[in-house]
Amino acid sequence: MKFGIVTVSDRCFRGECEDKSGPAVAECLKDLSEKNEYLLVPDEKELIIDAITELSDRRKVDVIFTTGGTGFAPKDITPEATKVVIDKEVPGISEAVRAKSLEITDRAMLSRAVSGIRGNTLIINLPGSPKAVKESIDVVLPILEHAVETISGNTLNCGGNYGK
Ligand code: MTE
Repeated sequence: MKFGIVTVSDRCFRGECEDKSGPAVAECLKDLSEKNEYLLVPDEKELIIDAITELSDRRKVDVIFTTGGTGFAPKDITPEATKVVIDKEVPGISEAVRAKSLEITDRAMLSRAVSGIRGNTLIINLPGSPKAVKESIDVVLPILEHAVETISGNTLNCGGNYGK
């Protein structure tokens, strides 16, 4: 699987702090992928849209994780940018992440993260803290391979009568 990571942060983009969330995503993926596509953008809707479409349409990654910009702060706009680019929403992924995260912190309900499919790419919003990144990715790791397979039309491992 080929992964893309988009860190969304004004402060990291301006160089005022180090991006710890993008590397946290990469660390969680290290057993699946040694090298990932990575982009750092500010909390600007058009630039987030450009980053996601660059990774999905041109660099052809299977899964994009965005990190940051899912909360209530005035500039948080990652879910809105994601909704512009996805063809199909996948509510179950973000529902599962929130449900599991609520077992850890009530503040999980403050993330407005969404997930969806654009072309052959699955896009998953994650919250911005490295701790939240790890807690959230742990929820989705078990379904990623099957998700990517089915997006590309391979339904052999679905069970039942799929693919007949
Ligand atoms: N989810 C998990 N699993 N763990 C966390 O610590 N933090 C929450 C929430 N989701 C958190 C979490 C908090 S405090 C906020 S404000 C929102 O994610 C939004 O984060 P973001 O604005 O950095 O995207």
